[in-house]
Amino acid sequence: MRSLFLALLAVVLQAQDAFLVKPYLQLGDAPRILRAERLDLLWHTADREAAWTVEVKAGKGWLPQAAPVFRRLDAAPLPAHRIYRVTLKALPGNASIPYRVKQNGTVVFQAEALVRKAGPHRMVVFGDAADGSATQTAIAKAVLREKPDAVFIAGDLVYGRGRAEEYRNRFFPVYNSEAVPLMRSVPFLGVPGNHDVPFAKWPDAGAFFAYWSLPLNGPALKAGDRNAAPMKAGVHDAMVAAAGPVFPRMGSYSFEYGKVHWTVLDSNVYVDWESPVMQAWLEADLKAAQGAQWRIVALHHPLFQSSRSHFDDQWMRPISPILEKYGVDLVLAGHVHNYQRTAPLRFQPTKVGKRGEAVQGVFTVDEAFDGRKVTRPKGIIHIVTGAGGAELYDPWQTDVKASWQPWTKVFVSDKHSFTVLEVEAKKLNLRQLDAEGRELDAITLTK
Ligand SMILES: [Fe+2]
Repeated sequence: MRSLFLALLAVVLQAQDAFLVKPYLQLGDAPRILRAERLDLLWHTADREAAWTVEVKAGKGWLPQAAPVFRRLDAAPLPAHRIYRVTLKALPGNASIPYRVKQNGTVVFQAEALVRKAGPHRMVVFGDAADGSATQTAIAKAVLREKPDAVFIAGDLVYGRGRAEEYRNRFFPVYNSEAVPLMRSVPFLGVPGNHDVPFAKWPDAGAFFAYWSLPLNGPALKAGDRNAAPMKAGVHDAMVAAAGPVFPRMGSYSFEYGKVHWTVLDSNVYVDWESPVMQAWLEADLKAAQGAQWRIVALHHPLFQSSRSHFDDQWMRPISPILEKYGVDLVLAGHVHNYQRTAPLRFQPTKVGKRGEAVQGVFTVDEAFDGRKVTRPKGIIHIVTGAGGAELYDPWQTDVKASWQPWTKVFVSDKHSFTVLEVEAKKLNLRQLDAEGRELDAITLTK
């Protein structure tokens, strides 16, 4: 009896000890909807040998997956650790598939993975997220209650400097906890914001490239390129090694979910979206997406918004005519810590200054669209959904409409919130919910 107890205790202790970060799902390098779907599963462990296997439920049995591989991250202040990864393959779409992870032959983790859907689905979007606050956790819990199929974080993924240590303390314990078991169940996607770039002071900054696994179909950037995230030799060598081939390409990419084509842009200051190489990729990506029912662009820095804070961070405005030309329906951004929605807009830039200076131009505003009776917008609706956790900006503006730009229709900066997109072939519902699930805004778009 005593030996059985000790054996059971050993299994429990092994399970507890197995992970520094428990398994979490990523889309991996799978931009297109596939007949046999796939998802990447990642987890972090101490830097020591162990035999890992992953199995996926198939019928009554368990199907072993390819052997997990790992890369090592040895960047202070965290001790060196391993980032394991395996691609779960041949998954049926529209299904929740049980999977389990074994260490040295013992099951140490089990969950269900929600596989990408080809049809109707629910995507949750928010930005400016993991600052370790109570509001971050409250929003995470509210997101869980909405039962999303996937989650997209619109930049400023983790505060204050996108460091591995901050992911360990503020990101994974909130979005992949027993209380909020989101990341183990649905894929998280994201884009780097200004707090996620490789700050030269911190060797563990730029952890986005080591910890996320996203499509690698973005502009073919190489380390040191003008438009690549500026990892610094002698500072970020360990981070570059841990990132492997995904650096620097993973900053921008596109993917499909249901009938939506998402174009995800790294809008940080080191990227020049007016340069021919970046514009060529953007045009080609949107052109190839003309068969999609919906087109969404997601990035950190908004093109159009009304907050006094970050008002002059308008350097993404010049791409508006390209997005209009290819029929983009929505632009989703963060950076500004509140919720904002514009009328459908068209914009022709006339004067583009330096970064941090206003970009002037001519607006054409669709005043007829109301998202209830008139649901076919003439132009692009710009959403700021940067109220996902971090401290709110300019709450006083919520009730002072005179402080809004003329094309801003909704501005809520006195509550943290997130966006729920319910997408069908011909109908897209956008709802903005607060931490209690109360609706702050709701519109419908139809085709
Ligand atoms: Fe930001």
